[in-house]
Amino acid sequence: MTKLTSIRTLAALAVAGSIAFGGVAQADENAELVVNGEITLVTKTAAPDHLKDAMDTIYSGWVFRSDETQAMQADDFTNPGILDAEAGVELWNAVDGTEGKSCASCHGAIEEGMKGVRAVYPKWNEAAGEVRTMEMQVNDCRKTRMGAEPYKYVSGQMGRIVSAISMQSRGEPVNVAIDGKAAETWAKGKELYYTRTGILDLSCASCHEENYGNMIRADHLSQGQINGFPVYRLNNAKINQVHDRFKGCVRDTRAETYNPGSPEFIALELYLASRGNGLSVEGVSLRN
Ligand code: HEC
Ligand code: HEC
Repeated sequence: MTKLTSIRTLAALAVAGSIAFGGVAQADENAELVVNGEITLVTKTAAPDHLKDAMDTIYSGWVFRSDETQAMQADDFTNPGILDAEAGVELWNAVDGTEGKSCASCHGAIEEGMKGVRAVYPKWNEAAGEVRTMEMQVNDCRKTRMGAEPYKYVSGQMGRIVSAISMQSRGEPVNVAIDGKAAETWAKGKELYYTRTGILDLSCASCHEENYGNMIRADHLSQGQINGFPVYRLNNAKINQVHDRFKGCVRDTRAETYNPGSPEFIALELYLASRGNGLSVEGVSLRN
């Protein structure tokens, strides 16, 4: 980060008054996330090429959480999000809609049908001519293949089915494509990431690129990666989807926010996912 942008950011945060900005709290960069004593997840790795000018190393949000929260995610019995993922498997197997089908009718067991899928989402869909998030794909299958009502983009049911699908990629490296037909959406997402907005004149980068590792209010700022999504948050005791989190962060900058499922958030999600290429999909992670 340049000194000037850093000073500008700190000044903006100080002007905000309610946002007290504290000193550097060192994350334990050497902490290892081993789930259930058997699955080692990559929470720190070399930044992907497109990020090389901004940073050398990318970190999962897990690295910045307290020892207690870190430990809770390392055991499926103490990670409450696992229950939502299990409820999502029930949704996967439930018949719904006019066609009398479940997800399993076409895709088979979720463990086989969805293995590795979450790691490459959002993804360009050739037939539809658009970049699709996992939520969009789930609803497309519900509407066009099952004759069922789509889920609300951010909702309990959507959060649970996306959690169940994400668990089938746990431990696999995030690997979203940003070239070819996805390039235009990716560039739009990148622009949004760096655009300063709101009364505080902050961009995503102001906090997550220029100040990760620092304290903001009582929170330890991470790089704002999305490899851990969906996330079970202890603060609101539920599964939080990616666009839900975006909404909260944009609101914190006192800017008008976009809606979940909007073209802006879809583009931002593709861009953010690509900043985490190489980190492990965590399945359902735990944050505060
Ligand atoms: C009638 C068959 C059928 C049913 C039922 C169905 N799907 Fe699909 N699904 C497909 C087909 C065909 C594709 C691939 C074509 C496409 O991309 O649209 C697909 C693609 C997908 C993908 C993307 C896979 C990838 O590799 O990118 C996901 C995720 C998915 N479905 C989830 C679901 C979920 C969740 C349900 C239940 C709510 C469901 N599907 C129900 C037929 C079905
Ligand atoms: C004023 C500072 C600030 C700004 C600006 C900001 N965020 Fe955040 N964000 C936070 C804080 C604080 C947290 C919670 C601690 C953490 O994980 O960093 C957070 C968390 C996140 C997380 C969750 C990370 C995880 O591992 O669970 C994501 C994703 C995220 N932000 C994305 C964004 C995006 C996208 C933008 C721009 C639209 C943005 N943030 C702008 C402060 C900010």
